[in-house]
This record gives sequence, C-alpha cells and structure tokens, in this order.
Amino acid sequence: MCYNRAPSRRSFATLLAAGAGMTALAACTPDNRLASPTAAPSASGLPTPTPTMATTTAVPSAASDPPPSSAPPSKAPPSGVLSQQFSLSDPTSRWVIVNKHRPLTPLEFVPPDLVQPRVQLAVSGEASMLNSTTAGAAEKLFAAAASAGVTMTLASGYRSFQTQTATYNGYVDTRGQASADTASARPGFSEHQTGWAFDIGDGGGACSFEPCFADQPAAVWAKANAYKYGFVVRYPWMLNEITGYYYEPWHLRYIGVEAATDMAKRGIGTLEEYFGLEAAPGYP
Ligand code: DAL
Ligand code: ZN
Repeated sequence: MCYNRAPSRRSFATLLAAGAGMTALAACTPDNRLASPTAAPSASGLPTPTPTMATTTAVPSAASDPPPSSAPPSKAPPSGVLSQQFSLSDPTSRWVIVNKHRPLTPLEFVPPDLVQPRVQLAVSGEASMLNSTTAGAAEKLFAAAASAGVTMTLASGYRSFQTQTATYNGYVDTRGQASADTASARPGFSEHQTGWAFDIGDGGGACSFEPCFADQPAAVWAKANAYKYGFVVRYPWMLNEITGYYYEPWHLRYIGVEAATDMAKRGIGTLEEYFGLEAAPGYP
C-alpha cells in the first residue's frame, strides 16, 4: 500500500474490479522522501517542497551511481554525442518523452510488440508485459541483480489507457485531484502505457511502493547499476519540479545503454534535462 496515502479498502476493491490490480499500487508516491530518505511523513501527509526543487539546477542524484565525475552536470542534449538518435515523440521510440506537458500520441497508444519478460513476476496479465526491447533489457537487468544476490521482481509493467484511467480515478476519488496528480499520471500521460517503463519490487513485499523501498536492496542496486542495462530511475529524489512526480525509486525507464550511461556519467537526473526539454511540474 502507499505510505500514508493508500486508497481505502473500498477504492482498492474498485480498482481491482476495474482490472487495475497491482498496477493501482504502482501509482503510489513516497512523499516523505522529499524531506529525507528516512524522514517521517509530515503531519499533513503532504510533501513539503523545498526551494531548491523549484530550479532546474541538476542535482546529480538520480538515475544511478554513475562513474564519479567532479564536473558540474552538463545539460546538453545528446545530439552529436551518441552514435544513434531516436524520436522524442514517437511512442515506439526508446527516447519518447512522456510527461505532464507531453501526452502520448495517440492518447490511447498500445505498444505493438508487448511480451512477457522472463523475469520474476509479481503480477500477471497486462501488468506483466513490456515492449519487446524493454523486456530483453529487463531480463539482463534482473539476471545481473540476481548474480549480485539481489532479488528483484516485476511489480507493474504495461498499463493500458483504460487501466491508467481506473488507477488515476481511484486516486482522485481517494485523495483529490491535486494530490493524485503528484502520484499517478493521467490516462495518456503515463510511461507505463508505452511499454518502456516498469516498477520493481523485492519479492518479499518489503516497502512496496513506499518511501522505504529506496533503502531496499533491489532499489539500491538498481540505482547504482540500472544504467548499465539501459535504464534510468525516471523520477529521482528532489527533482519533482522537473518530472512532475515525487521520488519513485521503483520506477525504471529504458532509454538504451548508451544514453543511460552518458546521462549517468554526466550526473543528469532527468530525461527532461538530458534532452533539453522544459520542466513539466504540472499539467498546462
Ligand atoms: N506513477 C507514475 C508517474 C505513473 O502513474 O505513470
Ligand atoms: Zn511506475
């Protein structure tokens, strides 16, 4: 359940009935990670943004523990640096940027190549699917984690437009739209709908979709190593004024090994900064 902000039993049942299942949980947000990795939630249960979060100054936090670099983060887009370029708009592109300013086109996009990766699954049905490229990369990521003695599970993968609608509406019903928008993407605005992103668990349910997941072995390992397999932690700590969402140490997004490694080396935390796009803290 979401830390301090779980849907009620009734709303959760509604989500299950709507077919959201575990995917409903994937929209949970660890609000108190804003204050500190171990901080207690605020009395209101709401996050307390800090002034530094209002800038686009990169905090090299995020995507992984990259090869150390003392240079300030570069915000240059990767053009000319990487051997291949991909579309930022085509949802079948590994670089598609989906955020509160950039809905999917078409809004009800369905990946044409959904497959179930051969990894440890914590979900079934559509939530266990990814696009074929991401699935292949996920298999390597999970195998590497296992080799390092880290248990990692696929906790939520693909979500259809319809599932995201049920998930998002469940959060609106439970906590109101403003709060829901900090945790769950509106339908047509979720990376989960692209097949390029998924949420991880640790197999035991420890801190699932809760702030303390950041300190679980699966999250610690992913933060340090995911870039080697082409993934970034898409919603890093303290960069919600850029991404639109609070820290989600469980949400990994595939962009390819070359770009993810370049981003990590430069200490760039968000895809918006890496690709030179405007911050998307809220819907226009
Ligand atoms: N929790 C992420 C932002 C989503 O709903 O896609
Ligand atoms: Zn996610």
